[in-house]
Amino acid sequence: MSRPEVRIKDLHKSFGDNHVLRGIDLEIAQGEVVCVIGPSGSGKSTLLRCVNLLEEPGAGKVFVGGCEVTDPDVDIDAVRRRIGMVFQQFNLFPHLSVTGNLTLPQRRVLRRGKAESARIAAEHLARVGLSEKADAFPAALSGGQQQRVAIARALAMGPEVMLFDEPTSALDPELVGEVLAVMRMLADEGMTMMVVTHEMTFAREVADRVVFMDGGVIVEEGRPEQVVTAPRHERTRHFLSRLLDPAMAEVEPERPQGAGGDGPSPKRPPDPGLPDR
Ligand SMILES: Nc1ncnc2c1ncn2[C@@H]1O[C@H](COP(=O)(O)OP(=O)(O)O)[C@@H](O)[C@H]1O
Ligand SMILES: [Mg+2]
Repeated sequence: MSRPEVRIKDLHKSFGDNHVLRGIDLEIAQGEVVCVIGPSGSGKSTLLRCVNLLEEPGAGKVFVGGCEVTDPDVDIDAVRRRIGMVFQQFNLFPHLSVTGNLTLPQRRVLRRGKAESARIAAEHLARVGLSEKADAFPAALSGGQQQRVAIARALAMGPEVMLFDEPTSALDPELVGEVLAVMRMLADEGMTMMVVTHEMTFAREVADRVVFMDGGVIVEEGRPEQVVTAPRHERTRHFLSRLLDPAMAEVEPERPQGAGGDGPSPKRPPDPGLPDR
C-alpha cells in the first residue's frame, strides 16, 4: 500500500450527549477510493465533516497528506485547500454564473488572479463536460449538471483528496449516471476519494474498499465484493438486504439511531425533509 493520504485515529464526536462517532480508525492510501455505507444517522456525514474540520472532533486525530488537521494550531484554510468536498445539495452560489462559482473560491482562498482562475475554471468545466454552460446560472441547469459544476469547483482548487457526501441522492434517477461517470473518471486518474454513497454498482466497480458504519463505529470493511456479497456481520447483512431489495424491509420495532429516518426507502430516497424535485 502506498503512503496513507488520510489517517483517522480513534476519532470521537458528540453533539451534546449524542455520542455520534465512537472511535473511528481508518487509513486511506494515496489514490485509493473508499466507499462508506451505513444506515441514516450512523455518523457518515459527521465523519466526512470531521476530516475537513467542518465539525471539530471531540477526540482523536486526523491527518491529511502528513499534516495533522486536528492540531489546534493548524491553518484551517491550508487544510481545506487540500480537501475538496461535494455535498448532496450541490451548494452552488445561485447569484453567480457557473464560471463565477468556479473562480470565486480560487480568487478568495488561493488568491489567483482573474485570468488564471478563469483559465483553470474552463479547464475543469471541460473535464466534467460542461464547457458550454460556462455562462449559465445554476437555476438553469439540471441537478446532474449542477453537481458536476460542484465537482469542477472543488477540483479547480487542486485538492489532494476529494470527499463526497451522498453526491447523487438528491438527483432524479436518470441524472445519477452522469455524476457517477465524472467520479469514475477521477478515480481512474488516481484521485484519493472518500465517498458516502449507496450506489452499490459504483461501490463494487470503482471502490477499492467498502466501509460499513453503524452506530458511530466501523462494523466491517473490505474489498467491495467481499463486503457486499459475503458480509461477515449480521448488521451489514441486514443493511445490505434492505438496500438491495427495499421491498424486503420489515417494520422494525427498534428505534433508529439519530433523529432522522432510517436506511433506504423503496423510492430513491432524498433525506427526510428535503423538498421533492
Ligand atoms: N450539527 C449537528 N448538531 C446536532 N446533531 C447532529 C449534527 N449533525 C449530525 N447530528 C446527529 O449526529 C448523528 C449522525 O448524523 P450524520 O453524521 O448526519 O449521519 P449519516 O450521515 O450517517 O446519516 C445523528 O443522530 C444526527 O442527528
Ligand atoms: Mg449523511
